[in-house]
Amino acid sequence: MSQASIPSGDVPSMGRRQFMNLLMWSSAAVTAGGGLYAFVGFFVPASSGGGGGGVTAKDASGNDLSASQFLKEHQAGDRTLAQGLKGDPTYVVVTDDREIASYGLNAVCTHLGCVVPWNTAENKFICPCHGSQYNTEGKVVRGPAPLSLALVHATVENDKVQFTPWTETDFRTDEAPWWV
Ligand code: FES
Repeated sequence: MSQASIPSGDVPSMGRRQFMNLLMWSSAAVTAGGGLYAFVGFFVPASSGGGGGGVTAKDASGNDLSASQFLKEHQAGDRTLAQGLKGDPTYVVVTDDREIASYGLNAVCTHLGCVVPWNTAENKFICPCHGSQYNTEGKVVRGPAPLSLALVHATVENDKVQFTPWTETDFRTDEAPWWV
């Protein structure tokens, strides 16, 4: 039934893993009340993607993320999913000073690709699939995940949250980024 509702022509060159990630995340968005619009929104090209390989972060309804509005609605320490580079679900982090952190975290588990939820009570990301855990900065602290969550740069331009690729040293491990 659900397969029939996805026109095959709308997903022309999307890799299987990415497509599955989108399906998983958009399912969560639909559950949260975004409805069909949110689901369809993931397949529509970004209206304001920006240059240099960056994108404007989108909320679950496909709207550009306004930094000022976001900070009104989120508290220090919050980690909130947005649509990021290549459509991957990506966490926007609010710092202790209630600013948008300079990094975002790709939510795709490095084990087998589940979207990893933030667990506020445990103060960790805990993957529901096989129990991998990541600390507040997405550094892996328990397997079977072999690697930390991928980083992106997060900046605010004209009040919009922007994600750009992180190609520098991983500040959590002092190693070259495995995702580049
Ligand atoms: Fe996350 Fe296996 S996919 S622990």
